[in-house]
Amino acid sequence: MAADYPDGVRVAPSILSADFARLGEQVDAVLDAGARVIHVDVMDGHFVPPLTMGPLVVEALRDRVHAQGGFIDVHLMVERPEQHVPAFAEAGADSITAHFEATPHVNYAVQQIKRGGCRAGVAITPSTPAEVVRELLDDLDLVLCMSVNPGWGGQPFIPHTADKLARLRALLPDRVRLEVDGGVAPATARTVVDAGADLLVAGSHVFGADDPPAAYRELADAVGAA
Ligand code: DX5
Ligand code: ZN
Repeated sequence: MAADYPDGVRVAPSILSADFARLGEQVDAVLDAGARVIHVDVMDGHFVPPLTMGPLVVEALRDRVHAQGGFIDVHLMVERPEQHVPAFAEAGADSITAHFEATPHVNYAVQQIKRGGCRAGVAITPSTPAEVVRELLDDLDLVLCMSVNPGWGGQPFIPHTADKLARLRALLPDRVRLEVDGGVAPATARTVVDAGADLLVAGSHVFGADDPPAAYRELADAVGAA
């Protein structure tokens, strides 16, 4: 039985910007500050140029995140994501999101995620129209709208994403969560929440700060999140 996403508006710190020599300690610190969704950015060197992390990192974090009632949100920026879903489900992911652009078999990828006992998400890049998710809605738990081009932390928010978020929210059933990823900081957080996003991924703002828990709280407080 898949765990539920924490309710209400949430800020999801992305460990992409964390100090990997102190990863466990940094994740504990943001959990202590109130974070309950930990975002894991998986990149394969093909779908996006960088290589990042695999299931071993999810496995390494699962106990400490779940011990605090937290939720591991895996964002697969990999080609043919369906081939990697079982390994991430096995490693302890609670939610797995596959890119619409990364496979001709998105429906199959979503079914694989559900078979793995995880919540299922589909992500779209800035140039992919909102409407592509329409045929998948019955099976989706989450839509992730990229507000930067996937591949790197620390890029500026692409302004027209706010309008796209509003169009996505209008076509999604209430039960489907709307996640925004890229360039989320206090200056943009209110805009994306007003447009309908309820999961706000934040990498560089949180883990790029000298004091990640304080940076987490600043962002969470800006949108009234826990
Ligand atoms: C980018 C990743 C993001 C990244 C966001 O491809 O999907 O999750 O960590 O980083 P910031 O918050 O720095 O834009
Ligand atoms: Zn991400």
